[in-house]
Amino acid sequence: MHNFILKGDICYSTAPTSLEIFEGGYLVCLDGTCAGVFVDLPEQYRDLSVIDCSGQLIVPGLVDLHVHAPQFPFRSLGMDLELICWLNTHTFPEEAKYMDLAYAASAYRAFVDDVRRGPNTRAVIFATRHVPATALLMDLLEASGLVTMVGKVNMDRHAPPDLVEIDAATSLADTRAWLAEVAGRYQRVSPILTPRFIPACSDALMAGLGEIQREFGLPVQSHLSENPAEVDWVMGLRPDAESYGHAYYKNGLFGGSVPTVMAHCVWPSAGEFALMKRQKVWVAHCPQSNTNLASGIAPVRRYLEAEIPVGLGSDVAAGAHTSIFRAMEDAIGASKLYWRLVDSDAAPLTLAEAFYLGTLGGGRFFGAVGSFLPGFEFDALVIDDAVIPGRVGLSIPDRLARVAHLSDARQIRRKFVRGIEIGLE
Ligand code: GUN
Ligand code: FE
Repeated sequence: MHNFILKGDICYSTAPTSLEIFEGGYLVCLDGTCAGVFVDLPEQYRDLSVIDCSGQLIVPGLVDLHVHAPQFPFRSLGMDLELICWLNTHTFPEEAKYMDLAYAASAYRAFVDDVRRGPNTRAVIFATRHVPATALLMDLLEASGLVTMVGKVNMDRHAPPDLVEIDAATSLADTRAWLAEVAGRYQRVSPILTPRFIPACSDALMAGLGEIQREFGLPVQSHLSENPAEVDWVMGLRPDAESYGHAYYKNGLFGGSVPTVMAHCVWPSAGEFALMKRQKVWVAHCPQSNTNLASGIAPVRRYLEAEIPVGLGSDVAAGAHTSIFRAMEDAIGASKLYWRLVDSDAAPLTLAEAFYLGTLGGGRFFGAVGSFLPGFEFDALVIDDAVIPGRVGLSIPDRLARVAHLSDARQIRRKFVRGIEIGLE
């Protein structure tokens, strides 16, 4: 069913501070695209079938700009370490298991099922460095109906022998083999170039990835300025670079004409901040991860003021929850601590702003996604918040606030991606 109408209490962002609300409104889907939201249904749509969700919330699908699919099995474990120790102790040993396709199949199935049943409709995903397991993850995601970008990870240094790629040439050859294998295979999954982070990528690997980017025109995802010790390490490894971000930039992997999303961006230097702004590099703000690994608090208010594009990331497994409702809740909480403890000029995020970040803010990385403005891709959630005790008399924004803060997937009744309904069982 590609042409239909959802009727209910509709809520969506058009900008960071503007939340549009339609109580008992009509949201029209034509060919997988939003045709508009109406209080009174226009004559030309009167013949379309109406799915009556009266009294339920209808919001855009949420967008996860940064998540590691292979880390799902150990989410919420090992949260007493900082980034580099956590990678060495928990992350790298787990990711090494994806050499085994049977292990990968069962672990990736659990991850994909969890996201499918939750509120996210889009995700930008790290796999591991293994080509067969990465292609398998892409197959599972395609079948789920979610729309995703997936990266085979590149990492040729500073990781254990059973995970590290033996040299830059091998990493680059595997990347080309992966791109050839998945080319033209999917409608909903696309490849994204994925250098893990500068400490794990030699100069030769970064140069080769720059060449692949130019050849294939791929978007790029990576990590940036997450932890103070990591930033110091990068500056030691790359004396040629003026900042951590500049190291990516030197290989043409940092925005401009290359859509680039960098996770974390907690500790930008002034030069890095200016480069991110100039290059329109996307920030995937991952507040739960930044708390769990004691990384710090990203200056999200500063990014919004500078019109640097920002969305939210779960960063599973450093974040324990795949739900971007949960990331909204954590982003608000972290911004309050930042305001109180770090910078009294950086006003805390409002609910409207956090909702924007988790929908339109991140959605823009996928194009016209994350809102119900006419022409946007039709990603929608129907949420029966009446089952949450204590709803009586609440306004629609208050109901949205409660849903975001409780971040419980059990109230999601229906989920549509590009106008196609996804099963939630
Ligand atoms: N930096 C490099 N790899 C990772 C990872 O897997 N998770 C996080 N949070 N940061 C990283
Ligand atoms: Fe990450």
